[in-house]
Amino acid sequence: MPDAELRIGMVGHGFIARAHTAAWLTVGRTFAPPLRPRLTALAGRRRDAAREAAERLGWESASDDWESLVRRDDVDVIDICAPGDLHPDIAIAALEAGKHVLCEKPLANTLDAARSMETAARHAVERGVRSMVGFNYRFLPAIAFAKAFIADGRIGALRHVRCAYLQDWLIEPTTPMSWKLDPVSAGDGVLADLGAHLIDLAQYLSGMSIAEVSGRMHVFTTARPTADGRPTHVIAPEAASFLAALGDDVVGTFEVSRVAAGHRNSLVLEIAGSEGSVGFDVERPNELLVYDGRLAREEQGERRVLVTEPVHPWIEAWWPPGHVLGWEHAFTHEVLALIEAIADGRDPEPGFDEGLRVQGVIDAVARSSRTGSWVTVATA
Ligand SMILES: NC(=O)c1ccc[n+]([C@@H]2O[C@H](COP(=O)([O-])OP(=O)(O)OC[C@H]3O[C@@H](n4cnc5c(N)ncnc54)[C@H](O)[C@@H]3O)[C@@H](O)[C@H]2O)c1
Repeated sequence: MPDAELRIGMVGHGFIARAHTAAWLTVGRTFAPPLRPRLTALAGRRRDAAREAAERLGWESASDDWESLVRRDDVDVIDICAPGDLHPDIAIAALEAGKHVLCEKPLANTLDAARSMETAARHAVERGVRSMVGFNYRFLPAIAFAKAFIADGRIGALRHVRCAYLQDWLIEPTTPMSWKLDPVSAGDGVLADLGAHLIDLAQYLSGMSIAEVSGRMHVFTTARPTADGRPTHVIAPEAASFLAALGDDVVGTFEVSRVAAGHRNSLVLEIAGSEGSVGFDVERPNELLVYDGRLAREEQGERRVLVTEPVHPWIEAWWPPGHVLGWEHAFTHEVLALIEAIADGRDPEPGFDEGLRVQGVIDAVARSSRTGSWVTVATA
């Protein structure tokens, strides 16, 4: 491990904070990052809970005060793992205080807030301060391999992008209300939460922008109990779908849900071109399905490529071929990309500009759902 440290301050200690913590801990054990991450400080909503989490996860200090955290002299990076309504204030304050920022997706809950964050990030670059948005699925080896495969022209001219991200954890009407169902803290609900991943993957893999959308959002259970049993109304969508035009004429279809029975965490996508296609399912994260239409007709058919060879992205640092990786490894690759970019003095990808591009699509789908018509996606 190098001597030079990168001191991390994290906001939040829930689900995704645990995945990020594991990534900061693992990256130096598997790769050779140019800076050594140090788990300096954690902030949560409640001090006692933050202290307990810090002890359990290995953070050196804990508080209930993110505003002090982002101003600490002994912190270099702010890692935002808190609900979406907090992202803009924390990110902008951190960037202004000269801290690099890793912000979970979606970048913000509104297009205006995302624009402010992107502006702050652009100005911060002039002071050598970097920012990144956590589209972790880009960092799975099978997805990175698919990106290279498509960019190499192996599927020809793109025709179709078809994707779905389905879960079922809200299928019971008795499942209590949470911040993820409150538009104040979670914006456009599942469209923003799961949709952000799909929109980013579609734009990243195709190399195109979503230009126009027609969508609908749905709430199936309009009343849920709060955690302490009081009835409350649900407004944030539990499911959404939209048609999209990518670039001039690529057909896009998107579907997201938290109420699709049997789908625990099913992110499926297929990109088809004039000469081939690729398919991916996060429940089989080490595999990429590949169809090459240029083979002789009698040899054509979908092939399952096991993306665990040393020549595949990031694999050489892990295990021998066939010793599969999982969902959490993407976060290790994500923080590696951020550390390397900071050390090299360049912008990491995906930056806040990519987060803003995704937010523009979310905003357009929400507007389309309200008006019932096709909506053009706002550019920056
Ligand atoms: N990349 C992914 O696959 C993925 C998956 C899940 C969540 N997320 C994103 O991660 C973020 C957090 O989601 P989660 O599922 O971890 O939520 P969570 O409810 O498990 O955790 C939220 C955390 O935020 C903290 N928090 C809330 N208010 C705070 C405040 N005022 N000050 C300091 N801390 C505060 C809470 O203490 C808690 O630790 C969201 O942006 C979500 O969209 C990303």
